[in-house]
Amino acid sequence: HRRYTITLLPGDGIGPEVISVAKDVLLLTGSLEGIKYDFREMLLGGAALDATGVPLPEETLSVAKQSDAVLLGAIGGYKWDKNEKHLKPETGLLQIRKGLQVFANLRPATVFPQLVDASTLKREIAEGVDLMVVRELTGGIYFGKPRGFGTNENGEEIGYNTEVYAAHEIDRIAHVAFKIAQKRQGRLCSVDKANVLEASMLWRKRVSAIAQKYPDVELSHMYVDNASMQLIRYPKQFDTIVTNNIFGDILSDEASMITGSIGMLPSASLGDSGPGLFEPIHGSAPDIAGQDKANPFATVLSAAMLLRYGLGEDKAAERIENAVLDTLNRGLRTADIYSAGTKLVGCKQLGEEILKSVESNVPAG
Ligand code: NAD
Ligand code: IPM
Ligand code: MN
Repeated sequence: HRRYTITLLPGDGIGPEVISVAKDVLLLTGSLEGIKYDFREMLLGGAALDATGVPLPEETLSVAKQSDAVLLGAIGGYKWDKNEKHLKPETGLLQIRKGLQVFANLRPATVFPQLVDASTLKREIAEGVDLMVVRELTGGIYFGKPRGFGTNENGEEIGYNTEVYAAHEIDRIAHVAFKIAQKRQGRLCSVDKANVLEASMLWRKRVSAIAQKYPDVELSHMYVDNASMQLIRYPKQFDTIVTNNIFGDILSDEASMITGSIGMLPSASLGDSGPGLFEPIHGSAPDIAGQDKANPFATVLSAAMLLRYGLGEDKAAERIENAVLDTLNRGLRTADIYSAGTKLVGCKQLGEEILKSVESNVPAG
């Protein structure tokens, strides 16, 4: 048996609901593939605030750092929305990303043939879309200084943030993106706002320079406003996208809708060393939390990414991905991806059906 320590961070809202499904899926695939897990469930976000007074307890970060990989549900909720910044659930999420130094956030958006009818785009536009957003995750306006509240020269209240990138931060995310593009279709589109922002001008310069080292990758550049339009106009033009922290946040939510729902998109956050952080791209969905309506596929697919990118367990990852496709083939859907002729189920029941698909191990297709 191979043995791994996995830190589980269920978080808030639908986080615990989807993590519970993903944990069961990991356990069953593990038992079929000769993998044992030591799960350590820790507090993050609002759950941590309520229990300890801070959104990222020191113990959570140290346990996460010592584990082989971290699987996160989602954080946040109305209850904490008015908290001061350092006491917001979101601050805990940013702190753990920074603490684990996971600067490269991989967000694949794949339209499964079974879900073309769930897309809000026309069939011929959505069909066959398969793109990867490589989002820089530990820099940019999320972390730039100066930031804060103050007053301007008229004595008026202001809030301000700084979009800043150092050359090395751009270089390392660019290398990750070029390597991913090499393994995909060899096309990389760097998305920026270099017509206006200095941080984007440097971004474009560094990415262009690094392109020399990857002659087999075709690099293009696009302004973010155009990119958000092109994603909806003709998404198949994209293979790999590399972009900064905030543009990647926004574009990946947009891309998710092409696939049918934000409840379908997983992510992997990786650094140069240490454990990776794996999470769905969606949030805690307070509007449906506690109602057994959440789509667990994004988190289950994040568990597959954990196996592939975090542990190098490709066979187990494939088993999970095949199970997701098999469950879809059997017509089972949560409300967010429901369409006529399919069967509506809740989060728990979908979880049980995914387990049946894991057992039957039907090949993809
Ligand atoms: P959200 O992603 O939580 O929800 C947006 C919409 O998508 C909602 O209508 C929700 O019901 C739906 N949705 C999201 N995930 C779904 C799923 N798995 N299945 C079915 N429907 C799903 O974004 P929001 O409403 O802007 O934010 C809610 C809270 O989550 C906020 O506190 C926000 O800060 C936080 N948030 C956390 C993360 C994270 O933990 N990584 C990500 C985004 C937002
Ligand atoms: C995400 C979320 C977070 C982000 C928030 C909750 C801090 O939107 O994971 O996409 O902006 O990175
Ligand atoms: Mn987001």
